[in-house]
Amino acid sequence: MFKTLDQMECLGRRIIVRGDLNVPVRDGRVTDTTRLDRLAPTLKELSGKGARIAVISHFGRPKGKEIPEMSLRPIADALSVALGGLPVDFVEDCVGETARAAINGLSDGGLLLLENLRFHAGEEANDPVFAKALAANGDLYVNDGFSVSHRAHASTAGIAHHLPAYAGRGMQAELEALTTALETPRKPVAALIGGAKVSSKLTVLGHLLDKVDSLIIGGGMANTFLFALGIDVGASLCEANLANTALKIMARADEVGCGIVLPSDVVIAAALEEGVATETVPIAAVPPDRMILDIGRDSVAALNAHLGGCGTLLWNGPLGAFEVPPFDVGTNAVALCAAELTAAGTLVSVAGGGDTVAALAGADAIDGFTYVSTAGGAFLEWLEGRELPGVAVLNN
Ligand code: 3PG
Ligand code: MG
Repeated sequence: MFKTLDQMECLGRRIIVRGDLNVPVRDGRVTDTTRLDRLAPTLKELSGKGARIAVISHFGRPKGKEIPEMSLRPIADALSVALGGLPVDFVEDCVGETARAAINGLSDGGLLLLENLRFHAGEEANDPVFAKALAANGDLYVNDGFSVSHRAHASTAGIAHHLPAYAGRGMQAELEALTTALETPRKPVAALIGGAKVSSKLTVLGHLLDKVDSLIIGGGMANTFLFALGIDVGASLCEANLANTALKIMARADEVGCGIVLPSDVVIAAALEEGVATETVPIAAVPPDRMILDIGRDSVAALNAHLGGCGTLLWNGPLGAFEVPPFDVGTNAVALCAAELTAAGTLVSVAGGGDTVAALAGADAIDGFTYVSTAGGAFLEWLEGRELPGVAVLNN
C-alpha cells in the first residue's frame, strides 16, 4: 500500500513533486489544461500546509539535450492559472546549484517549477547519480504523475531510493479508480477495447479475458475478428495475419466464460473522408470495395442494452474512425449512453488512453464518466496487467 499526503508532515519541508506537465501546446499556449488541473489539488494542499514545493516534469522528448522549444518555462504561468493564481516561479535547471539555491530560498507554501528533466540524459537512463542529484534538494518526494509512471526514469523510480515517497492526490484517485474497476468491481464487468489494430492490444485482450465478463471489440480491431470468423470485410483495415490469434482469443474467452461482443451491422464508405457517401449494412453484406468505418445503429442499440445490464465499464479505444465525422456517431452514442447509466447510478465507467479521451471529449461525455484517466501509454500498460515502475516504488 502506498502512503498519501495524509501521512505526510509537510510544514517547512522541501517537497519534490513529480507531475506530468507534458501537455499539448500550440503557439506557446496550453491547448488542453486537464493534466494541470489534475495536478492542482496536490499542489494547493501542500502549499496550504506550508510545504516548500519544487515541481519537476518532462516535456516532449529532447533526449538529453537542451532544446529551447521544449522548455517548461511557458508552462509556469499556465500552472499558476490552474492553481487559482498561486505564484509559480520558474527555475532554469532541475538539479545543481541553481535549483538548490532556488529551493532553499522558498518560503512556506511557496512553489517552483524546475526546467525539463529530459534536458539531462540521466533522467531517461534512470542514472543513479542524476537521481541522487534530484533528491539532494528535497526532504520528501511525491509522485502525482500516473501518466508517466510506466517509465522507469530517475524522477519516477530512482529518486524514491533516496527520499520517502508518497502518492499525490491525482495519483491516489487514479490508482483507486483503476484498481477498483479491475480488482473489486461492481459486476458484471464489460471492457470495451477499440482502436485500429489488434496487434497493439493483444496483451491487453489476453489480460482482460480473465478479469471481465464481456469484451466488447470495436474499431478496426473488430474487422480482424470478423474476418477470422469468415466474414468478408471488403476493403476495411484488417490484420489478416492475426486471424488465428483472434480465433484463439475467442476460444479462450469461451473457455473462461467471457462473452465477446462484435458489431452486427456497420457503416461503410468508399473512403475515409468527410462528406463521403455512407451506407449502413449487416456485417455479412460488406461489398469488396467498401470499408467499415463505424458500427451501425443496430449494433449501437445492442451495445447500449448490454451496458444497461453491466455494473462496470472499462473503456479504451474508439468504436469507429471518430476523427472523421460522421464516423464518430457510434462512439458518441455509446459514450453518451454510458454517461447516462453512470448518472443513473447503475454503471461505474472508467476510461483512458490518448484517443479515448479525445473521442469522449468529442462526444461531450467526459464529465459523465466516473473516472477518465489522462494517461496514454501508462493506462495501456496497466490494462496489460503490468506493474508500473513509478507506482511500484510508492508501494515499497
Ligand atoms: C505521455 O504524455 O504519455 C507521458 O507524459 C509520457 O511521455 P513519454 O511517452 O514521452 O514518455
Ligand atoms: Mg506517450
